[in-house]
Amino acid sequence: MVARTMIIAFLILLMYLSVTNASNITTDEASLLAFKAHITSDPNGMLSKNWTKGTHICNWIGISCSKKHQRVTSLVLKSFGFRGSIATDIGNLSFLKFLDIGNNSFHGLIPDEIGRLRRLKYLYLQMNNLTGQIPQSLGFLTRLQVLYLSKNRLFGNVPLSIFSVSSLKDIDLSRNYELTGSLPNEICSNLPVLEYISLQHNQFVGELPSGLNKCTKLEVLSLSYNKFTGNLPRDMWNMSKVQELFIGWNNFTGHIPNEMNLLSIRKLSLRRNELVGTLPPSLGNLTTLVMIDIGENKIHGYIPPQLGHLSSLEGLYLGSNALSGEVPVRIFNISSLKVIALAANTLSGKLPSNLGYSLPNLEGLYLGINNFSGKLPSSISNATKLKFLDLGRNMFRGNVPIDLGLNLQQIQSINFQRNMLTNDPSSTGEISFLNSFSHCKYLKFLMIGDNQFNGILPKSFLTNMSLSLERFIAFYCGIRGEIPVEIGNWTNLSW
Ligand SMILES: *[C@@H]1O[C@H](CO)[C@@H](O)[C@H](O)[C@H]1NC(C)=O
Ligand SMILES: *[C@@H]1O[C@H](CO)[C@@H](O)[C@H](O)[C@H]1NC(C)=O
Ligand SMILES: *[C@@H]1O[C@H](CO)[C@@H](O)[C@H](O)[C@H]1NC(C)=O
Ligand SMILES: *[C@@H]1O[C@H](CO)[C@@H](O)[C@H](O)[C@H]1NC(C)=O
Ligand SMILES: *[C@@H]1O[C@H](CO)[C@@H](O)[C@H](O)[C@H]1NC(C)=O
Ligand SMILES: *[C@@H]1O[C@H](CO)[C@@H](O)[C@H](O)[C@H]1NC(C)=O
Ligand SMILES: *[C@@H]1O[C@H](CO)[C@@H](O)[C@H](O)[C@H]1NC(C)=O
Ligand SMILES: *[C@@H]1O[C@H](CO)[C@@H](O)[C@H](O)[C@H]1NC(C)=O
Ligand SMILES: *[C@@H]1O[C@H](CO)[C@@H](O)[C@H](O)[C@H]1NC(C)=O
Ligand SMILES: *[C@@H]1O[C@H](CO)[C@@H](O)[C@H](O)[C@H]1NC(C)=O
Ligand SMILES: *[C@@H]1O[C@H](CO)[C@@H](O)[C@H](O)[C@H]1NC(C)=O
Ligand SMILES: *[C@@H]1O[C@H](CO)[C@@H](O)[C@H](O)[C@H]1NC(C)=O
Repeated sequence: MVARTMIIAFLILLMYLSVTNASNITTDEASLLAFKAHITSDPNGMLSKNWTKGTHICNWIGISCSKKHQRVTSLVLKSFGFRGSIATDIGNLSFLKFLDIGNNSFHGLIPDEIGRLRRLKYLYLQMNNLTGQIPQSLGFLTRLQVLYLSKNRLFGNVPLSIFSVSSLKDIDLSRNYELTGSLPNEICSNLPVLEYISLQHNQFVGELPSGLNKCTKLEVLSLSYNKFTGNLPRDMWNMSKVQELFIGWNNFTGHIPNEMNLLSIRKLSLRRNELVGTLPPSLGNLTTLVMIDIGENKIHGYIPPQLGHLSSLEGLYLGSNALSGEVPVRIFNISSLKVIALAANTLSGKLPSNLGYSLPNLEGLYLGINNFSGKLPSSISNATKLKFLDLGRNMFRGNVPIDLGLNLQQIQSINFQRNMLTNDPSSTGEISFLNSFSHCKYLKFLMIGDNQFNGILPKSFLTNMSLSLERFIAFYCGIRGEIPVEIGNWTNLSW
């Protein structure tokens, strides 16, 4: 019995030796020369100057060899501007572990022969012009850890064989636009070490499988811009290692559950789906969140005050839903916030008077198309990083703070159209707050129409206004006097 086992082992060893003996460095050289021959454009003459017959292939640019056997283990020719197809002979580089020809202009098919590179661990073909289907044979690469095929023109069904290469850690098939298929039910059992998967900007369909929480190492799940449907599976919310969960721009339905164990989540985007129900207060438990985007769904009800616990939050996007009630004042106290986007809901209430001081990092405040009321807090002008201010279509009243624009040196767009704002009566008939915008040198859009200003455009605004201005919209707001000739000097004005 023992002898028999030994004989079999010996035979297997012999077979192994004869297989590896069948190829040698000469095979590698022939394969590389075939690879070179299929490159039709080499703008810097890299290969023609460097891959020359006289030099040992292990000294060629982009090539590394194993020390022991002097066989090619790595081929790295990224960002060389190459044009051409990928020679099928590449499948003869039987010792290859690392293949990176990303960011060139390779066209044509991904050769089936790549599936013969049994030692391959890293395959980078992203940012080329490859077309056709992803070959089924990639499923034979049982040591593959990284598969990057993003930004090509690949199409058709993604072979299921890919989703059972159990060594895979990173899969990026994003931005091929025409890849389709669905995520298999066993994805997490078959890919136990998966850390990163991006399928965004394609045509994937179907429901998300259950059992996603079995992908215990998954950090990034990016499925945005596809055609996924169905309810979000409950255990998706139990992925404890996930840091980035992007599933926006699909057709997901159902509720956001109240029980969530996304203990590491930093960025969560559910934007533009068909989600209904209310925002669960337990969202406030996800204190690792930096960005949350639930915009363009059908969520109703109040914004839970618990969101004020998200003390690392930089972006809060809840626009275009059916949210109502007041914005919990604690939210305006999260000093890390850069963007608050709540436009197109039916939110109401006043803005806190210290807003500009409690949000020193604010770059975008989008509150348009709601039912906010009260005065514009003059502290807005102390949020000096502000670039975008949208307060249009609300019920704001009172005088526009006279120094509103004074400190907003970064401001690019201001909209407070369609409110009931007035002008400071002490300002001798001029719409004087406009002067405060004259030195905002990046201001492109200034929209103040449909208010009750009742005054003339101040001379100094007209002559000093930054030439960056592209749109000045001020209909139906009580401007008196002649059309000022100075506007003819606003050379970038298009509207
Ligand atoms: C590689 O193998 C071929 C035959 O398979 C042989 O002719 C050649 O000399 C070998 N080259 C080297 C460098 O061993
Ligand atoms: C690569 O291998 C294939 C199949 O074994 C063979 O037909 C082809 O000639 C080889 N290419 C080179 C450049 O040796
Ligand atoms: C080819 O490039 C490599 C790596 O840059 C360099 O070491 C080698 O000297 C070059 N060989 C020739 C013939 O230019
Ligand atoms: C892609 O390659 C070009 C040179 O061909 C380079 O300028 C560019 O920075 C590269 N882009 C990336 C993302 O590597
Ligand atoms: C990709 O291929 C298309 C069609 O053949 C061609 O129009 C386009 O210029 C190519 N793009 C690059 C980056 O090579
Ligand atoms: C998710 O976690 C909660 C709380 O730990 C647990 O009650 C629930 O059973 C888990 N769900 C799944 C599908 O694992
Ligand atoms: C998404 O769902 C809506 C209604 O639920 C349907 O009208 C629409 O066609 C769907 N879109 C896609 C891309 O499946
Ligand atoms: C999560 O939040 C809810 C509601 O805010 C709270 O009742 C619950 O105790 C929190 N759970 C954990 C695990 O912190
Ligand atoms: C906002 O923060 C300030 C300073 O940290 C604190 O004094 C105030 O009570 C907070 N307001 C709310 C509503 O949490
Ligand atoms: C807007 O708020 C006012 C009170 O400020 C209220 O009378 C009105 O019904 C609200 N409109 C909507 C659409 O919620
Ligand atoms: C806040 O802004 C106003 C108006 O621009 C300015 O007068 C005031 O000095 C600013 N306060 C601080 C603390 O910067
Ligand atoms: C327009 O600008 C020119 C050149 O700066 C200046 O001479 C002229 O007075 C300006 N016209 C008006 C009406 O401000």
